[in-house]
Amino acid sequence: MNKLTLMLFALFAVFGFSSMAIADSAAGQAKAKQVCAACHGENGDKPLQPEYAILAGQHRDYLVKALNDYKSGARKNAIMGAQAQTLTRDDIRDVAEWFSSRSGPLAVKH
Ligand code: HEC
Repeated sequence: MNKLTLMLFALFAVFGFSSMAIADSAAGQAKAKQVCAACHGENGDKPLQPEYAILAGQHRDYLVKALNDYKSGARKNAIMGAQAQTLTRDDIRDVAEWFSSRSGPLAVKH
C-alpha cells in the first residue's frame, strides 16, 4: 500500500467516525414525521392537545435529556415512557436536532 492510499484510509476512518457522532436533522425529521407528529405535530409546534408538549425551538440538550429520562424512567409518563423506549441513542440525538431547529412560541432564536 502506498502512502496516499494509507492517508485516504486514515481520512476515511476519521471522517467516517466523526460523521456518526453528528446529529442528522433529516433523519430526525423523518422519525418525527413517522412517530412524533401524531401528538406533537411534525414541527413540534402543534400539539394535538395542550398537555402534549410543544417541542419546537426547545434547547437540543433539554430535549435529549427529557427523552433519556423518559427512557430510563427518571422522568415518569406512561405515554412518553413508551415512546422513548423505541428510540435509539441516535434517534434521540436526531429528533432533538430536528425539533430544536424549528421555530416555536417557547423561545426566540436569533
Ligand atoms: C401518543 C402521543 C405522543 C407521541 C406519539 C409522542 N409524544 Fe412526546 N409527549 C406526549 C405527552 C402526553 C407528553 C407530556 C408528558 C409529560 O407530562 O411528561 C410529551 C412530552 C414530550 C417531551 C417533553 C417536553 C418537555 O417540555 O419537557 C418530549 C421531549 C417529547 N415528548 C418528545 C417526543 C418525541 C421526540 C416523540 C417521537 C419520537 C414523541 N414525543 C412522541 C405525547 C406523545
